[in-house]
Amino acid sequence: MMARVLVLGEETSCSEETRGILESRGFQITLCKDKSEGLRKLFARNFDLLVVDLQLPVSSEMEFFRLARLVDPNISVIMVTAEGTIASTVRALKGGVSDYLQRPYNPSDLVQSIERTFREKQVLREIRLVRPESVRKHTFSNIISKSPKMQYIFEIIKRVAGTDSTVFITGETGVGKELVAKAIHDNSPRRDGPFLAINCGSLTETLLESELFGHEKGAFTGAFKTKHGKFECANNGTLFLDELGDITSAMQVKLLRALQERKVVRVGGNDSIAVDVRVISATNQDIKEKIRRHEFRLDLFYRLNVIHIHVPPLRERQEDIPLLVQHFIKVINENLGRKIKGVSTRGMKQLLEYEWPGNIRELENVLERACITCDGDVIDQFVFPHDAQNPAMEGTDETVDTDVPFDLARHMVVAQFEKRYLTEALRRYEGNVSETAKRTGIHQRTLWRKVREHRLDRMQFKKSKEL
Ligand SMILES: Nc1ncnc2c1ncn2[C@@H]1O[C@H](COP(=O)(O)OP(=O)(O)O)[C@@H](O)[C@H]1O
Ligand SMILES: [Mg+2]
Repeated sequence: MMARVLVLGEETSCSEETRGILESRGFQITLCKDKSEGLRKLFARNFDLLVVDLQLPVSSEMEFFRLARLVDPNISVIMVTAEGTIASTVRALKGGVSDYLQRPYNPSDLVQSIERTFREKQVLREIRLVRPESVRKHTFSNIISKSPKMQYIFEIIKRVAGTDSTVFITGETGVGKELVAKAIHDNSPRRDGPFLAINCGSLTETLLESELFGHEKGAFTGAFKTKHGKFECANNGTLFLDELGDITSAMQVKLLRALQERKVVRVGGNDSIAVDVRVISATNQDIKEKIRRHEFRLDLFYRLNVIHIHVPPLRERQEDIPLLVQHFIKVINENLGRKIKGVSTRGMKQLLEYEWPGNIRELENVLERACITCDGDVIDQFVFPHDAQNPAMEGTDETVDTDVPFDLARHMVVAQFEKRYLTEALRRYEGNVSETAKRTGIHQRTLWRKVREHRLDRMQFKKSKEL
């Protein structure tokens, strides 16, 4: 693999001889004497390493390092400093520099330092993706998992699919409860019938009742025409009652009656309508505790809980993380037109160590964000919602130096302005790109491109419903 090195300094910084050695080892060297020219080159081309041998006072070295990183945030930097200043330079630069050399140095020191720095960079970039066949092998009905606990759930799904028993699914938010419900439906004789899901937790009692059972025309103000409820619409299929733990006691009675009689009455109606529906319900709450506190009816619970499936949280099945990452990156690449190849060793370590309170849904969000904000084709670092600051706003008050060539300086100012403007606009329209495009008069495709270019994190502005 060819690695590009930009050496900023005099001819003596990298002699013909040293250059020859480095080139024979796969490094392509560009020498540049002028600071401004150097920054311009750094901006225009993809360099892997930068060697700074400028004979500047420490404070100017620091300033130059800051500028270089501003121009190319990904660049690995080797600093050459005057004798006796290493300690102060190290302190001043507060990390971020990959290696230091002290003047005068031997050609072999430079070669070694370049090789070492490049190797480190490569290790961090090592691609950690599992093979697509492996994902396919560990997928059951769109549920990806190789963990024993989930394999057991796959078996239960196969076994209960053929029956009409009610299934009660528990588990934290984002663990895949709805996916399990859908898998049961898809493997059941009802698979050609409808699968309807309703989120019981997000509706008021009146709305929920009319959603589930329908209403007759004129049943209440605003009921302009007859509406069929979910039970009727799911006839011959499956009805998934999500977040059932929240329904009121009046609703619990009505639901129990519908389940016992297999009939529903529309709000404001008199006739019972027979329905043939399999009911699967789910909650992320401690339903036993609710029963103990008499907030949930025991008889309804028995009706719903003929089969119980508990979906374990992601932190209890970390072996699934690489598979899920492979799957989601493929989907995100397709949706966003990205070409992300994988996650570095360091990145994967972060994913494996994280607690995942929002489970697989959170993993999906974290990956989408990382795919958008990633500079290269390998994700090396993740930001988790809980420790997320505001990466889009950093460096907004950067003043531009006259050390930076004019065209580059202008480009950087415009880029900063764009980033700030788009950040504000996306915040205002809650991360909704089509809405932002419409309101700001930016073409939607242009906006998508800018969002990627500036690595804006649109998920950050979404009104988080789920997390
Ligand atoms: N094992 C899995 N394999 C692939 N995708 C999954 C898996 N588990 C969850 N997901 C995805 O994560 C998201 C959340 O799943 P969902 O079933 O809605 O969770 P819950 O209902 O428990 O909150 C969905 O986009 C779902 O497709
Ligand atoms: Mg859900």
